[in-house]
Amino acid sequence: MKFYMAFVNENYLKLPGSYLFSEIARRVNQFKGDNPDADIIRLGIGDVTRPLPPAVLEAMKKAIDEMGSQETFRGYGPEQGYQFLIEKIIENDFKPRGVELAVDEVFVSDGSKNDTANFQELFDLDNILAVTDPVYPVYVDSNVMAGRTGGVNAKGQFDKIVYLPCTEENGIKPALPQTRVDLIYLCFPNNPTGMTLSKEELKQWVDYARENRSIILFDAAYEAFIQEEGVPHSIFEIEGAREVAVEFRSFSKTAGFTGTRCAYTVVPKEVKVYDSTGSAHSLNSLWLRRQTTKFNGVSYPVQAGAAAIYTEEGKKQIRETIKYYMENAKIIKDGLIKAGYTVFGGVNAPYIWLKTPEGLGSWEFFDKLMKDAHVVGTPGAGFGASGEGYFRLTAFGSRENTEKAIERIRTRM
Ligand code: MLT
Repeated sequence: MKFYMAFVNENYLKLPGSYLFSEIARRVNQFKGDNPDADIIRLGIGDVTRPLPPAVLEAMKKAIDEMGSQETFRGYGPEQGYQFLIEKIIENDFKPRGVELAVDEVFVSDGSKNDTANFQELFDLDNILAVTDPVYPVYVDSNVMAGRTGGVNAKGQFDKIVYLPCTEENGIKPALPQTRVDLIYLCFPNNPTGMTLSKEELKQWVDYARENRSIILFDAAYEAFIQEEGVPHSIFEIEGAREVAVEFRSFSKTAGFTGTRCAYTVVPKEVKVYDSTGSAHSLNSLWLRRQTTKFNGVSYPVQAGAAAIYTEEGKKQIRETIKYYMENAKIIKDGLIKAGYTVFGGVNAPYIWLKTPEGLGSWEFFDKLMKDAHVVGTPGAGFGASGEGYFRLTAFGSRENTEKAIERIRTRM
C-alpha cells in the first residue's frame, strides 16, 4: 500500500533524544526552577567567559564603520573566506611549525562544530568510520543523520561505527583500529578527556591512514592550549599527513569567538577520495564545491576581528586569556587530586576528566554535584559508553567560580 505524506528521515529517530548539551541545559533549568536561590556554577559546556580581546573589538568596530560607508561597503565575500585572514592564518598558525599551505587550502567558516558535522557529506554512505570513545558527540550524530551508521544497540552504539575505547587501561588514548576503517575522527588535545598524543603517537595514525587509504578528520580546536613541548599542534607537522588528513581549527576557545563564530578548515590538495571505478577525486575541490553551494561566508566584521588576533597586541591578549584558563585548569586538577579524585587532562587542554567516586554513574554524579555543590559539569557517559564512570569539568569559568567550585566539591561531596 502506498501512503501519501511527508516521511521523516528515519536516521534522526536513531539519535539520542536530545543533544548532550541541550539535555544538560534542560536539567539545570529544571533544577533552577525548583531551587531559585541556588547559586549555580557552570563548568559544563565548554563555553568561554572572558570577553573578546580589545584588539579584536577595535578591528570589528572599524570594519562595521566600513560597512556603513558607500566607498568601503562589502556585500557577499568569498565563501571560503577573505584572503587577508587566510594569509595571516598560514603565516602565523602553520609556517612557524614548518607547515606550508596554499591560500586555497584554508576555508574560513562559522564554526568547527558545523565543519566537523558537514564534512562527512563528501563521503559515501558505505564508508566505515572510527571514533574514539568517549568522543565529541557531533562527529557521531552527524553521521547518524546522514545514514552511515546502521542500527543502534542498547549501549547507544552504532553497528557500523568502530569505537576506539580510551580507558585507564590504555592511558586514555585510542589504539589503532583492529579492522580496516575509511574515516577516522581524531580530536587532540582531546575533548572531552583533555589528553594529547605525542608526535610519534600521531604518526602511527598517519601511517595507518596512508597504508589503508583512510582519511583522518583531525579536530585541533584546542591546540592553542598546549603548554608542553613535543605535543603536535597540527597533524600537518607529521610527515605524509598532507595526503590523508583534514584539520579543523577554531577561534571559539582561542579568542573568545563562541558567540561570534569563526573557524577554519584545512584541506590539502593531495587528499584524495575514490569513486566506484577507482578514479581519484580531490577532497579540496569537493569541499570548495560544497561550501560555495551551501555557505555564504563569515561576515566581514567577524573576519576582520579574527585577523586582529594575529597582530602583536592581539597575540599578547590571547596568550593572557589562555594563561588565565590554564591556571583555572591547574586549580581544578590540583584541587581534585588533593580531594582524592583520579584526574586526567587539564595540562594541555582546558578540560579535566575525572573518575567519579564510589563507582557512581556519570549522570548520578552529575545530579549529586548539582544538588549538593550547585556545580554543573558534563557526564562522561554523554560522550560515549567508555565515558561511563567519568565526568568532565571545563576551565572556562571565571577564576572566582572555579575556586568556589573546587572548594564546594572538597567540602560538600
Ligand atoms: C563542549 O563543551 O564540548 C564544547 O562546547 C563543544 C563545542 O565547542 O561545540
